[in-house]
Amino acid sequence: MSNEIPVIEVIELSKVFDDFWGRPRVSALSGISLRIEEGQVYGLLGPNGSGKTTTIKILLGLLYPTRGTVQVFGRSPRDVRTKARIGYLPEESYLYPFLNAEETLDFYGRLFKLSRHQRKERADSLLDLVGLNIERRRPIREYSKGMVRRIGIAQALINDPDLIILDEPTSGLDPIGSREVKDLILRLKQRGKTILLCSHLLGDVEDVCDQIAILYGGKVRKSGTVPELLTRRNVTQISAERLNDGTTEKVLNLIRDEEGNKPITVDHPTMKLESFFLEVVYQAQQEETATSGARMGGHKESFLTEGTLAPELSARDVLANLLTRPEDPEEEAEESAPQEPEVNRALLGDLSAPEKETPEESDKEKEPKPDQSVLDRLVRSDDDK
Ligand SMILES: Nc1ncnc2c1ncn2[C@@H]1O[C@H](COP(=O)(O)OP(=O)(O)OP(=O)(O)O)[C@@H](O)[C@H]1O
Ligand SMILES: [Mg+2]
Repeated sequence: MSNEIPVIEVIELSKVFDDFWGRPRVSALSGISLRIEEGQVYGLLGPNGSGKTTTIKILLGLLYPTRGTVQVFGRSPRDVRTKARIGYLPEESYLYPFLNAEETLDFYGRLFKLSRHQRKERADSLLDLVGLNIERRRPIREYSKGMVRRIGIAQALINDPDLIILDEPTSGLDPIGSREVKDLILRLKQRGKTILLCSHLLGDVEDVCDQIAILYGGKVRKSGTVPELLTRRNVTQISAERLNDGTTEKVLNLIRDEEGNKPITVDHPTMKLESFFLEVVYQAQQEETATSGARMGGHKESFLTEGTLAPELSARDVLANLLTRPEDPEEEAEESAPQEPEVNRALLGDLSAPEKETPEESDKEKEPKPDQSVLDRLVRSDDDK
């Protein structure tokens, strides 16, 4: 176990909800302990009412624990320095229905005191990332459930957070959206971000999480890495390109000779339904079939996904690579060749530099704004005064 301060440390946490008269009514958490290290993707699983959202709300400082200790980045969750480093996608959307996607991101950018230039750059990147660029001017009340989820994810990333807490991020998303969210989570991890994820979709958790904890009745029933928990150590599986019947028979005879008459299964693995579905949709998109729904995320998310570990690939590239058939080696080589990363160095510089505006930028901020949006009229931040 590392000696570094973990991003999240929860020790013997309990939460009892009282009734109107202050009498203990519901015991939501009964002594849970979690340790989440920097750069981990941690999955919190459990049936309805097992305490996942309560844990998250305590980590965000929205609820007080009844007992136990909670530290986020080594500090209290209520510390503003802690809050500034967290991005949160709530279980239920709390977005303003009369704002459009662009205005929503601008609003949250203002809450984090981003400059006009940063707000614009990040909104453009994030809207592209979540596939809502074309629908950016429509009010959120007109959005489908999955589209609202997508804008919620964009909102959770507007402050380029170090810890991202996602409560059911793929709920309401179509399989393309949920694949994109999973790819995004993996790319955020490559960039060193820590992610806490709650989901009922076990396949999603299995695909992206390093560690998981399964809650039941406010207690951690099991926790560990995904391979630790899922590997069946008493079964050996050998995979090969299709073998001819004679070879298979020889291999079976060898196993019988060496290992005795153990039961052996020989079959062909099936594709995951997710991969099959994505292939069907991908083909429809290649044929440029018309749709008025969400599109696959685009290429401009560089401020969030600049990784040091692997070459940059957009959601579309990742998807294309996922779907490339291995039996077409030429096509595979072409598809999986690292794309030229579209990295906005200036913006990355902005993000890594201490908060400071350039003289031209602050001048720009003071310029009159002829095309003020609803949001501009509703919200006036200090820097506009
Ligand atoms: N504000 C509240 N007042 C009273 N009880 C609450 C409150 N919030 C949560 N609870 C109770 O605490 C328990 C845990 O709820 P929580 O929302 O944390 O579950 P969950 O694991 O997120 O469930 P789900 O999968 O349905 O989202 C439940 O019994 C719930 O009724
Ligand atoms: Mg919940």
